[in-house]
This record gives sequence, C-alpha cells and structure tokens, in this order.
Amino acid sequence: MRGEMSDEMIKIAELRDSEREAIQKIVSKVGTPVYIYFQERMEEQIRRFGDAVEKFSSDVEVQCYFAMLANHNPYLIRQILQAMEDNGLSPGVLCASEGHLRILSRISSLPRRLNIIYSDAFLDESKLSQFIHYLSSSEAYTLILILQTLQQTEIFTQKWPQIKEKMSEKFHVGVRIKLVGSSSKDIYSLYHGQNARFGLMRNNLQEALSKLKSCGISQVGFHIYPGTNILYLSELESLYNGLLQTIQKILTYNSGLELDFIDVGGGFGINYQKREFLNPDKVIEILKNIFSPLSDKKERILIEPGRTIIGPAGVLIAKVVDIKDEGSRKFVVVDTGLSHFARPYIYRQYHQVQVIPQNERRVKTNWDADAFIVGITMASGDFLAGDPLEDAPIKIERVEIGDLIAFLDVGAYGFCMSSNFSGLLKPPEVLVEGKNYYLVRERKEVGYLLAEVPLCLKSL
Ligand SMILES: Cc1ncc(COP(=O)(O)O)c(C=O)c1O
Repeated sequence: MRGEMSDEMIKIAELRDSEREAIQKIVSKVGTPVYIYFQERMEEQIRRFGDAVEKFSSDVEVQCYFAMLANHNPYLIRQILQAMEDNGLSPGVLCASEGHLRILSRISSLPRRLNIIYSDAFLDESKLSQFIHYLSSSEAYTLILILQTLQQTEIFTQKWPQIKEKMSEKFHVGVRIKLVGSSSKDIYSLYHGQNARFGLMRNNLQEALSKLKSCGISQVGFHIYPGTNILYLSELESLYNGLLQTIQKILTYNSGLELDFIDVGGGFGINYQKREFLNPDKVIEILKNIFSPLSDKKERILIEPGRTIIGPAGVLIAKVVDIKDEGSRKFVVVDTGLSHFARPYIYRQYHQVQVIPQNERRVKTNWDADAFIVGITMASGDFLAGDPLEDAPIKIERVEIGDLIAFLDVGAYGFCMSSNFSGLLKPPEVLVEGKNYYLVRERKEVGYLLAEVPLCLKSL
C-alpha cells in the first residue's frame, strides 16, 4: 500500500547543536543569506547507499553516480566523490551539460578511478569531442555516453571510428528510453509517454539501436529517468518494471544485441514537509528483485541520485528584516527570496524552517497569529514558507527582527537554481567539515551585476 511499507522512508535528523554553533559562527563571518552544507550529513547519505549496495552485492552490481544537476559546486562534488570511495562505492558522477564537464575537469585531486556518465539534452560534435577527451585522461575509469535522440545517435556513430581508435574497455554507450504511457499529473513529472521531451520510444528507439548495430556496436545500455522526487517505492517499482519489459522486448527483437548496463537514473524523493527520504536500502532491494532474474549473469545497474545525497546536507540561512503584522496574518520578511531559493516559487514545495533567535532584539511581536515567511523580491509569489493559495500559513515560534531563519534540506536544486532576479546577488556557499568551515563560493559585490555588460556599446 502507498507509503505504508515498513522502513520505506527515513527521517532526517534535526539541526544538531554543533550545526547551530557552526551557523552562528559562519553568519558572523560572511553574513546572510548564505548556503551552508554539512559534510557529515552528506557522508551519512552516501554511507546509506554504500551499505545498501554492499548488502545486495551478491545479486547485482550497483554503481552510483552523483547527479551534478542537484548541485555543481566543485568542492562539494570532490567531497562527495571522496566519501563514495571511503564508503565502498566506486566514485561516479553524472554530467548533464558542457558546463558540468568543464567544472569536473577543473576539480583538482579527483579520485583515481572515476566513473563518468555524460547525458545531455543537446549534444553536438564539439561537446562529444570534449567528452571523448576524457578517454585519454588518467582519472576517468569508466565513461558512459547516454544518447537521448536520433540526431545524437547519428552524431555519435559518425564519431565512432575515432572513439573506437582511442577506446579501451572503459567506454560504454547507452540509449535513453521513455516509457509508453504517462501517469504525469503536472509538467514537472512529465518524463514518460508520448508528450515527454526526453528519451526514445518505439520506432525511434529501434532506429537508434539499428544505427548502433550497423557500426558494429553489440553491447548497449538502457537508461530511464523515472521521474523527479518520487516518494513511493511502488511508483518506482512500476517504472522499473516498465523498463524491464521494454528491455526484454528489445533483446528479443534484436538478436545479437547484448545488454551492457541498466541505468535507472535518480528521482529518489524527499518529503520536505515531513523531513524524510526514500530509504536507499529499499530502493536497491527493489532493483535487485526486478533486474537480477533478467539473465544468468550479475546485471550492472547504475543509479544517479542527486537530491537524496546532497538535499538533507544543506541549509539556507537568512535574516529576518521586517515583520508585517496584519492581525490574523504575519508576514515575516527575510533577506533572501526566490532569486536565491526558487523551489517554493517554481514547484510550490515548501521546506521546513527553523528559527535561530539572536540576541539583538528590537521590534517585539506577539504570536497569536500564523505566519508566512516571504522573500524580498518584487514577485507576488515569493513565499518561502506557508502556501498562500491553500491559505496555509505556518506555525513558527516567536520571531523577531534580526533573528535567523534556517530553510532546511535545501542542498539539492537550491543554489544551482539561483539567479540575479530582482537585482539580488547570489549568496555565498560554505562547507562545514567538523570544526572547519570553508568558503566554497564567495559572495559577489553589487558591481557583479554589471560584470557581463560592456562599458560601452559593442558593435558586432
Ligand atoms: C537524467 C537524470 N539523472 C539524475 C537526476 C538526478 O535526480 P534526483 O536529484 O532526483 O535524484 C536527474 C535530475 O533531473 C536527471 O535528469
């Protein structure tokens, strides 16, 4: 039954005393707003995946790739990859754009054996060449290219002779599948069915496979991204079963084609209101149950988690700058907004908040009404906590101007979706590693807003 399987979700820990202490010290140094990431929490998540992979390792080989879509700070990626290595996972990363490839290439001291998946919605010759460049890099251990369209397959097959020449057994290719039939309720989860943008289906899928076969490629991987922020194991299970059936049909129809790997993407969800996430152990168990009977060899399953790894590790700290008291409603204004944290605005997914009272008290308020926490941009929908359309303000403890508010579990799709909308500058990012705090992204000066604008008109 939905959501009722035991151990399906795991609770996210409350803010710890040491974390509050770190927040206080960091704010005193870099001010607000600021994104703070706790290394310990990142490691806890990775350990969970490591333990789950280890537990089922006699039945399936599961490889983990951190999805840079969720967070592309190079220092954090380095720590994540290191933590993977420390927890028995072969370190892997999923790049979804040229920018991701470039960020990765700038990270110093990457693990010696790094696995990379490259899967881009728009692939051209030059991007493919950049990726292939990794073939000669000593760090890259396994390189996987996922083809998403027929055009990408064409570009790849033209380049194939060159790749083949440089190639060792470290290069693998796969195709992205969209499953027939869609259960999507909104635009944010439209990943399958005929109206979905991504992946190959029916004739196009067959044509792509024929193109690959015609250049002598007999081993192919299959990839789906099940959907974003999936909160029920049963939903994942049914999508994985859909993939299994598609793979079985393909292999029956295409004699000589061998299954190289199954890449089930990410999508493992966080319930931000309840502060709990899908149990990696249960996810891997389902993968084992569904895919291990596919053949008599141990299948290679790839997972690409982003949200579950870095989400619970991040907080956004903002300062209360104004409180508008309208009797039945209080509007707590913080020095951030949708430009820094877009998830509530875009997805109407509200995160839990924690008030961190400060000493300096100026305006006193009484708390006989519920509150919305709102941003400082000029957008009417800049509500960061409490849903105005559902008339659902939140209950928070007494808050005063100067207090800090921590937006919890914002490590994924937080900073990387930030912008300069409304003339706001992006916040800095800080990594907390034990008693050490590292600035991993600096705060920009106001002049930065003009940094890309030439001093005078530039004729082209
Ligand atoms: C192909 C692919 N893999 C992995 C991810 C990461 O997903 P999540 O952060 O939900 O685990 C995404 C996110 O959009 C994706 O598009």
